[in-house]
Amino acid sequence: MLAHSDSGTGTPLVLLHAFPFDRRMWEPQAAITNVRLVVPDLPGFGQSPVADSTVDTMADAVAETLNGLRIDSCILGGCSMGGYVALAFARRHAHRLKGLILIDTKAEPDDEAGKANRQKMIDAASTLSASAVIDGMIPKALCEATRTNRLDVVEAVRRLGAAQTAAGIISAQRMMRDRPDSRPALGAIRVPTLVIVGEHDAITPPAGARAMAAAIPGARFVELKDSGHLPNLETPDAFNAAVVDWLVSAVQLQAPNSGP
Ligand code: MLT
Repeated sequence: MLAHSDSGTGTPLVLLHAFPFDRRMWEPQAAITNVRLVVPDLPGFGQSPVADSTVDTMADAVAETLNGLRIDSCILGGCSMGGYVALAFARRHAHRLKGLILIDTKAEPDDEAGKANRQKMIDAASTLSASAVIDGMIPKALCEATRTNRLDVVEAVRRLGAAQTAAGIISAQRMMRDRPDSRPALGAIRVPTLVIVGEHDAITPPAGARAMAAAIPGARFVELKDSGHLPNLETPDAFNAAVVDWLVSAVQLQAPNSGP
């Protein structure tokens, strides 16, 4: 079972973190009440041991964690790397999904330039610290408004990234480099789906997220203002409100609160 936090009662909402973070990136989502919020550390991050993972084995590790928690089905959300794993889960464990939330992520695989960048990060991670890796990512991961006005968010992101290990970073980069094309499976998704993206996401920009939403039957697309690649941290109130609105109207959950 993956290391995880499990709080609240109601329909399980399972959220998978982005790279290079851990379950603590979902702290602002504790304000979403009337759901059972389950947040695992993916293999190699936080308190989950590193494994020689693929997106499929990560998705299976999430499924095993649900088994251990006696959760038959859930609403599954994933941000960026977490979204790659959520899409693999949707392919491999579709019967366990009640709903899907794809946050600042994409269905297409890496192109050759993307794969080459992965190799650079793999090489750098063996010699640089995790702090150097996250410092190199922040200009793209957080939008300018966040970098200028939300120094608390910048600091939280830096702290979370710096807490990870070189082994976890290397293993996740290999896993992301080798992930398959999820686009052919998008049309087969049969559960309510919410696609969220920050308007200034420089890593997985809105145009790609919009196209992904259009390929999923009935999916809702939400673009959040003043946000970059990590909208749950950059504009948490708007993010939570978008999730709650969708939970109530598309998944027909009883009105939960989105927080203060
Ligand atoms: C992430 O935010 O999880 C990563 O930027 C995703 C990626 O490197 O493809």
